[in-house]
Amino acid sequence: MVLYKNYWCRPHLVGKIMLLQDTFKPRKEDIILATQPKCGTTWLKALAFTYLVPFIEIPDPGRDHTYLETIPSPRLLSTHLPLSMLPPETSLRGCRIVYLCREPKDAFVSRCIELDKAFDMFCEGFSPSGPFWNHCLEYWKESLARPNEVLFLKYEELKSHPEQVVRQLAEFLGVPLTAEEESSGVAEEVVKLCSFENLTSLTVNQTGGVDHGNKIFVENSVFFRKGKVGDWANHMSVEMAEKLDRVIEEKLKGSGLSF
Ligand code: A3P
Repeated sequence: MVLYKNYWCRPHLVGKIMLLQDTFKPRKEDIILATQPKCGTTWLKALAFTYLVPFIEIPDPGRDHTYLETIPSPRLLSTHLPLSMLPPETSLRGCRIVYLCREPKDAFVSRCIELDKAFDMFCEGFSPSGPFWNHCLEYWKESLARPNEVLFLKYEELKSHPEQVVRQLAEFLGVPLTAEEESSGVAEEVVKLCSFENLTSLTVNQTGGVDHGNKIFVENSVFFRKGKVGDWANHMSVEMAEKLDRVIEEKLKGSGLSF
């Protein structure tokens, strides 16, 4: 990985990010789903009622960033980029952002990598789109500055009160559930449709994938593992957990954000 504008990213992405910064023209009507990898991106996209949410920094195979210009408003886009790497117009034009973050120990464990080797690096901020805490903090501060335009969510609240979050999300996206939809159980239906069990049972998620070109084929199954809160306890020692908790506490100190 390389350090670009204070964030770690894969080398092949740097060119794409620079191109994006030069060409992406945020529109006021845009809705951007922002996450770090392994924080529930796939789930959030499903809940936003579609899987066809283009990643702005990674265009679909055979397309370049100019494709974004051809999408009619309101565009539903997604990104792993930190806020500071999006064009300033994103904030100035008042684009709506839904940010989903996750308890850092679970987010770390979800990466399915050699945990022991990667742990110290993660604690030092070395992770894709990391430092983990800076990414969260930028969007957290933006949500405080623009509360009506930035919805800050946590994976854990999505797990514990999914229907409530679905209502909040629908309202934020400008399509609040009507009384009729409420009484016919639409929120519950959406939650069921996007549940871990349902998504993992779909053939497309068991055997399908996306060809990103350059011999990179990403299987859809990589976006699903356990879908649980607190699974870190099965993979990390108490010492590791305490260390990461300490790091996070110190980094988030005074911000009002905690996990
Ligand atoms: P785990 O590895 O803890 O299971 P992303 O999409 O940002 O890469 O996030 C992947 C994480 O979200 C994985 O976490 C995955 O299992 C979980 N996930 C995916 N779909 C989910 C769903 N419908 N409900 C709950 N968790 C889900």
